[in-house]
Amino acid sequence: MSLKESPILVVDKARKCFGGLVAVNDTSIKVNRGEITGLIGPNGAGKTTMFNLITGLIKPSGGTFFLNNQNYSPENIEQVVCYGIARTFQNIRLFNEMSVIQNVMVGRHHKTDNFSSGIIASLLKLPSFLKSEEKLIQDCMSLLKKVNLEHKAQQVASTLPYGEQRKLEIARALATEPCVLALDEPAAGMNPTERNSLTSLLNSLKKSGVSILIIEHDVKLVMEICDKIYVMDQGNLIAEGHPREVRTNPKVLDAYLGSNFK
Ligand SMILES: Nc1ncnc2c1ncn2[C@@H]1O[C@H](COP(=O)(O)OP(=O)(O)OP(=O)(O)O)[C@@H](O)[C@H]1O
Ligand SMILES: [Mg+2]
Repeated sequence: MSLKESPILVVDKARKCFGGLVAVNDTSIKVNRGEITGLIGPNGAGKTTMFNLITGLIKPSGGTFFLNNQNYSPENIEQVVCYGIARTFQNIRLFNEMSVIQNVMVGRHHKTDNFSSGIIASLLKLPSFLKSEEKLIQDCMSLLKKVNLEHKAQQVASTLPYGEQRKLEIARALATEPCVLALDEPAAGMNPTERNSLTSLLNSLKKSGVSILIIEHDVKLVMEICDKIYVMDQGNLIAEGHPREVRTNPKVLDAYLGSNFK
């Protein structure tokens, strides 16, 4: 197996029951290093629940999780971020009252050395503190540039249009320097121009070595950018493969794509 084909994230038989409902039914997926992997399926298929399991937002009823060949327990989301997995949310979760750049700075927090430069240094605003603060702002501005939001850095996050809030969530996730970026419906609410710039952003992140797992109902976008696609329906995996194979799979056409997509 070439290095490129080696999986960075392996989810083996993940399971989640909500009372009598099996939302994720022993579902296994892999995200290959440096690839874009899609997770698609109809409403209620269990896609977001799968993300919530991987990122420690909810406790699994079963399953094993591996990152970089190491078994990890997705106990809580902060710990999962430290392992190297960052995510965005289907229902945007920004710090609404904070500025755009402050939202990105929150994501960067555990990467800065402000803690090591000490509370005294920060209170006295010693040169060491100011230098790391300046570096933090520079880093966050370059992340905002990546998502074309640098001109809105000082704006209050809640005043951004929906599509731009989604881009800001991506910038905040990137601030943690993840090895796996999990995006839950990033194109929702985006206009065609934003959608195109999202496509370029994801392709450039892929080139820079970030492995991406993406849930998206914009099937055209998924087919364009994904190296591999998993299809879920009612908690079960019903298909997996190259976009070419998935789009013509009768089970997928029946459960999800229907006659609307050719
Ligand atoms: N916290 C919860 N408590 C109870 N049931 C839940 C909970 N979260 C999700 N579910 C149920 O689990 C199933 C899968 O939901 P999930 O949100 O994972 O679907 P999805 O594939 O992301 O759908 P969509 O495309 O609409 O976002 C649904 O039937 C949903 O109602
Ligand atoms: Mg969902």
